[in-house]
Amino acid sequence: MNSLPATVTFVDLKPPTGSFLGDVLAGLGQSPKALSPKYFYDARGCELFEAICELPEYYPTRTEMALMRAHAAEMAAQLDDNCVLIEFGSGAGIKTEELVRALRPAVYVPVDIAASALHASTARLAARFPDMPIIAVCADYMQPLHLHGLARFRKSQQVIYFPGSTIGNLTPGEAQEFLSGARVLVADGGAMLVGVDLKKDPEVLHAAYNDAQGVTAEFNLNLLHRINRELAADFDLAHFRHVAFYNALAGRIEMHLESLRAQTVTVSGRTFGFGAGERIHTENSCKYSVAEFQRLAQAAGFRPQKFWVDAGQQFAVHLMLV
Ligand code: AVI
Repeated sequence: MNSLPATVTFVDLKPPTGSFLGDVLAGLGQSPKALSPKYFYDARGCELFEAICELPEYYPTRTEMALMRAHAAEMAAQLDDNCVLIEFGSGAGIKTEELVRALRPAVYVPVDIAASALHASTARLAARFPDMPIIAVCADYMQPLHLHGLARFRKSQQVIYFPGSTIGNLTPGEAQEFLSGARVLVADGGAMLVGVDLKKDPEVLHAAYNDAQGVTAEFNLNLLHRINRELAADFDLAHFRHVAFYNALAGRIEMHLESLRAQTVTVSGRTFGFGAGERIHTENSCKYSVAEFQRLAQAAGFRPQKFWVDAGQQFAVHLMLV
Protein backbone atom coordinates (compact mmCIF):
# COMPACT_ATOMS: atom_id res chain seq x y z
CA MET A 1 0.00 0.00 0.00
CA ASN A 2 1.24 3.51 -0.83
CA SER A 3 1.75 5.93 2.03
CA LEU A 4 -1.06 8.32 2.92
CA PRO A 5 -0.73 12.13 3.24
CA ALA A 6 0.04 13.68 6.61
CA THR A 7 -3.61 14.73 7.08
CA VAL A 8 -4.59 11.06 7.39
CA THR A 9 -4.34 8.82 10.45
CA PHE A 10 -4.98 5.15 9.70
CA VAL A 11 -6.23 3.15 12.69
CA ASP A 12 -6.42 -0.61 12.24
CA LEU A 13 -8.62 -2.13 14.96
CA LYS A 14 -7.93 -5.54 13.38
CA PRO A 15 -11.56 -6.62 13.12
CA PRO A 16 -12.11 -10.38 13.38
CA THR A 17 -13.20 -11.47 9.91
CA GLY A 18 -15.15 -14.48 11.22
CA SER A 19 -15.00 -17.92 9.77
CA PHE A 20 -15.99 -18.18 6.12
CA LEU A 21 -15.75 -21.99 6.27
CA GLY A 22 -17.71 -22.27 9.52
CA ASP A 23 -20.45 -19.96 8.22
CA VAL A 24 -20.73 -21.80 4.88
CA LEU A 25 -20.88 -25.25 6.52
CA ALA A 26 -23.52 -24.02 8.97
CA GLY A 27 -25.53 -22.24 6.24
CA LEU A 28 -25.59 -25.22 3.88
CA GLY A 29 -26.39 -27.56 6.79
CA GLN A 30 -29.54 -25.66 7.77
CA SER A 31 -32.98 -25.88 6.22
CA PRO A 32 -33.73 -23.81 4.18
CA LYS A 33 -30.10 -23.34 3.12
CA ALA A 34 -28.74 -19.79 3.47
CA LEU A 35 -25.45 -17.90 3.03
CA SER A 36 -24.59 -14.41 4.28
CA PRO A 37 -24.47 -11.63 1.64
CA LYS A 38 -21.32 -10.31 3.31
CA TYR A 39 -19.41 -13.04 1.46
CA PHE A 40 -20.36 -11.62 -1.98
CA TYR A 41 -17.57 -9.06 -1.76
CA ASP A 42 -14.32 -10.74 -2.77
CA ALA A 43 -12.28 -8.84 -5.41
CA ARG A 44 -14.49 -10.12 -8.27
CA GLY A 45 -17.66 -9.54 -6.24
CA CYS A 46 -16.63 -5.91 -5.63
CA GLU A 47 -16.02 -5.44 -9.38
CA LEU A 48 -19.41 -6.95 -10.18
CA PHE A 49 -21.15 -4.77 -7.60
CA GLU A 50 -19.55 -1.69 -9.17
CA ALA A 51 -20.86 -2.86 -12.55
CA ILE A 52 -24.35 -3.36 -11.03
CA CYS A 53 -24.31 0.26 -9.85
CA GLU A 54 -23.88 1.37 -13.48
CA LEU A 55 -26.69 -0.79 -14.91
CA PRO A 56 -29.66 0.97 -16.52
CA GLU A 57 -32.06 -1.12 -14.41
CA TYR A 58 -30.27 -0.53 -11.07
CA TYR A 59 -31.67 2.90 -10.17
CA PRO A 60 -30.56 3.22 -6.47
CA THR A 61 -26.97 4.42 -6.97
CA ARG A 62 -27.64 7.15 -9.52
CA THR A 63 -30.84 8.25 -7.77
CA GLU A 64 -29.11 8.65 -4.42
CA MET A 65 -26.21 10.42 -6.14
CA ALA A 66 -28.62 12.91 -7.72
CA LEU A 67 -30.27 13.48 -4.33
CA MET A 68 -26.90 14.25 -2.77
CA ARG A 69 -25.97 16.59 -5.63
CA ALA A 70 -29.25 18.44 -5.30
CA HIS A 71 -29.61 18.56 -1.52
CA ALA A 72 -26.22 18.18 0.21
CA ALA A 73 -26.21 21.89 1.07
CA GLU A 74 -29.67 21.62 2.70
CA MET A 75 -28.50 18.57 4.63
CA ALA A 76 -25.39 20.41 5.79
CA ALA A 77 -27.52 23.37 6.89
CA GLN A 78 -29.25 21.10 9.43
CA LEU A 79 -25.93 20.03 10.96
CA ASP A 80 -23.23 21.82 12.97
CA ASP A 81 -20.24 23.42 11.27
CA ASN A 82 -17.13 21.60 12.34
CA CYS A 83 -18.93 18.35 13.12
CA VAL A 84 -17.27 14.94 13.15
CA LEU A 85 -18.45 13.10 10.01
CA ILE A 86 -18.30 9.31 10.46
CA GLU A 87 -19.04 7.29 7.33
CA PHE A 88 -19.92 3.60 7.50
CA GLY A 89 -18.33 2.03 4.44
CA SER A 90 -15.25 3.41 2.70
CA GLY A 91 -16.91 6.11 0.71
CA ALA A 92 -14.83 8.02 -1.76
CA GLY A 93 -17.62 8.32 -4.25
CA ILE A 94 -19.48 11.34 -5.48
CA LYS A 95 -22.06 11.01 -2.69
CA THR A 96 -19.43 11.43 0.02
CA GLU A 97 -17.71 14.21 -1.87
CA GLU A 98 -20.93 16.19 -2.18
CA LEU A 99 -21.58 15.89 1.55
CA VAL A 100 -18.00 16.69 2.58
CA ARG A 101 -17.91 19.73 0.29
CA ALA A 102 -21.15 21.10 1.76
CA LEU A 103 -20.45 20.18 5.37
CA ARG A 104 -16.71 20.88 5.70
CA PRO A 105 -16.43 18.68 8.81
CA ALA A 106 -13.72 19.19 11.43
CA VAL A 107 -12.66 15.61 10.74
CA TYR A 108 -13.86 12.87 8.42
CA VAL A 109 -13.87 9.30 9.81
CA PRO A 110 -14.50 6.55 7.25
CA VAL A 111 -15.00 3.11 8.86
CA ASP A 112 -14.66 -0.09 6.86
CA ILE A 113 -13.76 -3.72 7.51
CA ALA A 114 -11.71 -4.00 4.28
CA ALA A 115 -8.32 -2.39 4.95
CA SER A 116 -7.23 -2.17 1.30
CA ALA A 117 -10.50 -0.60 0.08
CA LEU A 118 -10.40 1.84 3.01
CA HIS A 119 -6.80 2.77 2.24
CA ALA A 120 -7.51 3.38 -1.45
CA SER A 121 -10.69 5.42 -0.92
CA THR A 122 -9.07 7.47 1.85
CA ALA A 123 -6.13 8.32 -0.42
CA ARG A 124 -8.56 9.54 -3.13
CA LEU A 125 -10.59 11.66 -0.73
CA ALA A 126 -7.48 13.10 0.95
CA ALA A 127 -6.24 14.22 -2.47
CA ARG A 128 -9.54 16.02 -3.14
CA PHE A 129 -9.72 17.65 0.30
CA PRO A 130 -6.07 18.25 1.21
CA ASP A 131 -6.85 20.42 4.26
CA MET A 132 -9.34 18.07 5.92
CA PRO A 133 -8.08 15.82 8.74
CA ILE A 134 -9.09 12.19 8.13
CA ILE A 135 -9.04 9.37 10.66
CA ALA A 136 -9.60 6.15 8.69
CA VAL A 137 -10.70 3.28 10.94
CA CYS A 138 -10.47 -0.34 9.85
CA ALA A 139 -13.28 -1.95 11.88
CA ASP A 140 -16.55 -3.84 11.51
CA TYR A 141 -19.21 -1.14 11.81
CA MET A 142 -21.88 -3.83 12.24
CA GLN A 143 -20.39 -4.50 15.71
CA PRO A 144 -20.43 -2.02 18.64
CA LEU A 145 -17.71 0.53 17.88
CA HIS A 146 -15.38 2.50 20.10
CA LEU A 147 -13.70 5.11 17.96
CA HIS A 148 -10.32 6.01 19.36
CA GLY A 149 -8.48 9.17 18.45
CA LEU A 150 -11.60 11.34 18.54
CA ALA A 151 -11.13 12.64 22.11
CA ARG A 152 -10.11 16.11 20.91
CA PHE A 153 -13.36 16.33 18.89
CA ARG A 154 -15.51 15.19 21.83
CA LYS A 155 -17.38 18.50 22.04
CA SER A 156 -18.28 18.50 18.33
CA GLN A 157 -21.53 17.11 16.95
CA GLN A 158 -21.06 13.50 15.80
CA VAL A 159 -22.78 12.69 12.49
CA ILE A 160 -22.96 9.21 10.92
CA TYR A 161 -23.42 8.94 7.15
CA PHE A 162 -24.64 5.53 5.95
CA PRO A 163 -25.46 5.69 2.23
CA GLY A 164 -26.32 3.06 -0.39
CA SER A 165 -29.34 1.44 1.29
CA THR A 166 -26.93 -1.07 2.80
CA ILE A 167 -29.26 -0.95 5.80
CA GLY A 168 -31.76 -2.82 3.59
CA ASN A 169 -29.51 -5.88 3.62
CA LEU A 170 -30.33 -6.31 7.32
CA THR A 171 -33.68 -7.64 8.52
CA PRO A 172 -35.84 -4.93 10.15
CA GLY A 173 -34.98 -6.38 13.59
CA GLU A 174 -31.25 -6.28 12.82
CA ALA A 175 -31.61 -2.79 11.35
CA GLN A 176 -33.24 -1.51 14.56
CA GLU A 177 -30.46 -3.01 16.66
CA PHE A 178 -27.84 -1.52 14.34
CA LEU A 179 -29.48 1.94 14.52
CA SER A 180 -29.61 1.69 18.32
CA GLY A 181 -25.84 1.11 18.29
CA ALA A 182 -25.38 4.10 15.96
CA ARG A 183 -27.48 6.24 18.31
CA VAL A 184 -25.18 5.34 21.20
CA LEU A 185 -22.12 6.15 19.07
CA VAL A 186 -23.29 9.66 18.07
CA ALA A 187 -24.58 10.35 21.62
CA ASP A 188 -26.76 13.30 22.69
CA GLY A 189 -26.75 16.06 20.10
CA GLY A 190 -25.66 13.66 17.36
CA ALA A 191 -27.24 12.91 14.00
CA MET A 192 -27.43 10.26 11.30
CA LEU A 193 -28.00 10.50 7.53
CA VAL A 194 -29.13 7.23 5.94
CA GLY A 195 -29.81 6.34 2.30
CA VAL A 196 -32.82 4.01 2.05
CA ASP A 197 -34.42 2.38 -0.98
CA LEU A 198 -38.17 2.99 -1.13
CA LYS A 199 -41.00 0.53 -1.72
CA LYS A 200 -42.19 0.85 -5.33
CA ASP A 201 -43.70 -0.92 -8.34
CA PRO A 202 -42.54 -4.57 -8.00
CA GLU A 203 -41.74 -4.62 -11.74
CA VAL A 204 -39.15 -1.87 -11.30
CA LEU A 205 -37.66 -3.78 -8.36
CA HIS A 206 -37.70 -7.05 -10.27
CA ALA A 207 -35.82 -5.51 -13.20
CA ALA A 208 -33.20 -3.97 -10.89
CA TYR A 209 -32.25 -7.42 -9.56
CA ASN A 210 -32.75 -9.33 -12.84
CA ASP A 211 -30.85 -7.12 -15.28
CA ALA A 212 -30.80 -7.96 -18.97
CA GLN A 213 -26.99 -8.28 -19.11
CA GLY A 214 -26.97 -10.87 -16.33
CA VAL A 215 -24.51 -8.95 -14.12
CA THR A 216 -26.59 -9.50 -10.97
CA ALA A 217 -26.83 -13.22 -11.81
CA GLU A 218 -23.04 -13.34 -12.11
CA PHE A 219 -22.68 -11.44 -8.82
CA ASN A 220 -24.91 -14.00 -7.07
CA LEU A 221 -23.24 -17.05 -8.68
CA ASN A 222 -19.77 -15.64 -7.91
CA LEU A 223 -20.43 -16.64 -4.31
CA LEU A 224 -20.25 -20.32 -5.39
CA HIS A 225 -17.06 -19.59 -7.38
CA ARG A 226 -15.57 -18.08 -4.24
CA ILE A 227 -16.56 -21.10 -2.12
CA ASN A 228 -15.02 -23.45 -4.73
CA ARG A 229 -11.78 -21.47 -4.80
CA GLU A 230 -11.34 -20.68 -1.12
CA LEU A 231 -12.99 -23.64 0.59
CA ALA A 232 -12.07 -26.61 -1.64
CA ALA A 233 -15.62 -27.07 -2.91
CA ASP A 234 -17.02 -28.49 -6.17
CA PHE A 235 -20.16 -26.49 -6.97
CA ASP A 236 -20.94 -26.96 -10.68
CA LEU A 237 -22.08 -23.47 -11.64
CA ALA A 238 -23.85 -24.78 -14.73
CA HIS A 239 -26.28 -26.52 -12.40
CA PHE A 240 -27.34 -23.51 -10.35
CA ARG A 241 -29.27 -20.42 -11.42
CA HIS A 242 -29.82 -16.92 -10.05
CA VAL A 243 -33.33 -16.23 -8.71
CA ALA A 244 -34.49 -12.80 -7.47
CA PHE A 245 -38.05 -11.76 -6.68
CA TYR A 246 -39.99 -9.24 -4.64
CA ASN A 247 -41.54 -10.72 -1.49
CA ALA A 248 -44.38 -8.24 -1.00
CA LEU A 249 -45.37 -9.56 2.41
CA ALA A 250 -41.87 -9.04 3.81
CA GLY A 251 -41.30 -5.87 1.69
CA ARG A 252 -38.01 -7.12 0.33
CA ILE A 253 -36.17 -8.40 -2.71
CA GLU A 254 -34.86 -11.90 -2.04
CA MET A 255 -31.95 -13.40 -3.93
CA HIS A 256 -31.45 -17.14 -4.07
CA LEU A 257 -29.31 -19.70 -5.93
CA GLU A 258 -31.46 -22.53 -7.22
CA SER A 259 -30.24 -26.06 -7.88
CA LEU A 260 -31.30 -27.08 -11.39
CA ARG A 261 -31.26 -30.79 -10.55
CA ALA A 262 -30.75 -33.23 -7.69
CA GLN A 263 -27.04 -33.16 -6.90
CA THR A 264 -24.46 -33.39 -4.14
CA VAL A 265 -21.75 -30.83 -3.46
CA THR A 266 -18.64 -31.25 -1.31
CA VAL A 267 -17.18 -28.36 0.70
CA SER A 268 -13.89 -29.05 2.53
CA GLY A 269 -14.74 -32.75 2.75
CA ARG A 270 -18.40 -32.29 3.86
CA THR A 271 -21.12 -33.37 1.48
CA PHE A 272 -24.45 -31.55 1.03
CA GLY A 273 -27.41 -32.87 -0.94
CA PHE A 274 -29.59 -30.58 -3.09
CA GLY A 275 -33.02 -31.46 -4.46
CA ALA A 276 -34.03 -30.21 -7.93
CA GLY A 277 -35.37 -26.68 -7.38
CA GLU A 278 -33.90 -26.39 -3.87
CA ARG A 279 -32.59 -22.90 -3.11
CA ILE A 280 -29.83 -21.25 -1.11
CA HIS A 281 -31.08 -17.88 0.23
CA THR A 282 -28.22 -15.43 -0.37
CA GLU A 283 -29.60 -11.91 0.23
CA ASN A 284 -32.51 -9.80 1.44
CA SER A 285 -32.79 -6.22 0.26
CA CYS A 286 -35.53 -4.60 2.36
CA LYS A 287 -37.45 -1.64 0.99
CA TYR A 288 -39.04 0.92 3.34
CA SER A 289 -41.68 3.61 2.87
CA VAL A 290 -40.70 6.90 4.48
CA ALA A 291 -43.11 6.26 7.38
CA GLU A 292 -41.83 2.70 7.93
CA PHE A 293 -38.23 3.85 8.11
CA GLN A 294 -39.08 6.73 10.42
CA ARG A 295 -40.82 4.28 12.79
CA LEU A 296 -37.69 2.09 12.77
CA ALA A 297 -35.50 5.12 13.52
CA GLN A 298 -37.80 6.19 16.37
CA ALA A 299 -37.75 2.70 17.86
CA ALA A 300 -33.94 3.00 17.87
CA GLY A 301 -34.06 6.29 19.79
CA PHE A 302 -33.69 8.80 16.90
CA ARG A 303 -35.97 11.72 16.05
CA PRO A 304 -36.71 11.86 12.31
CA GLN A 305 -35.88 15.45 11.29
CA LYS A 306 -36.13 15.71 7.52
CA PHE A 307 -36.01 13.50 4.43
CA TRP A 308 -35.30 14.01 0.75
CA VAL A 309 -36.97 11.91 -1.96
CA ASP A 310 -36.45 12.11 -5.74
CA ALA A 311 -39.32 13.10 -8.05
CA GLY A 312 -39.75 9.46 -9.14
CA GLN A 313 -40.23 8.40 -5.47
CA GLN A 314 -37.52 5.79 -5.78
CA PHE A 315 -35.04 6.57 -3.02
CA ALA A 316 -34.94 8.50 0.26
CA VAL A 317 -32.18 10.08 2.32
CA HIS A 318 -33.26 10.46 5.96
CA LEU A 319 -31.80 12.86 8.48
CA MET A 320 -32.48 11.93 12.07
CA LEU A 321 -31.30 13.50 15.29
CA VAL A 322 -30.79 12.26 18.82
C1 AVI B 1 -25.30 -3.37 -1.26
N1 AVI B 1 -26.75 -3.48 -1.38
C2 AVI B 1 -27.43 -2.27 -0.92
C3 AVI B 1 -27.21 -3.93 -2.71
C4 AVI B 1 -28.76 -4.05 -2.74
O1 AVI B 1 -29.36 -3.51 -3.67
O2 AVI B 1 -29.32 -4.62 -1.82
C5 AVI B 1 -26.60 -5.28 -3.08
C6 AVI B 1 -27.14 -5.84 -4.36
N2 AVI B 1 -27.59 -7.06 -4.53
C7 AVI B 1 -27.96 -7.22 -5.78
N3 AVI B 1 -27.81 -6.09 -6.43
C8 AVI B 1 -27.27 -5.20 -5.56
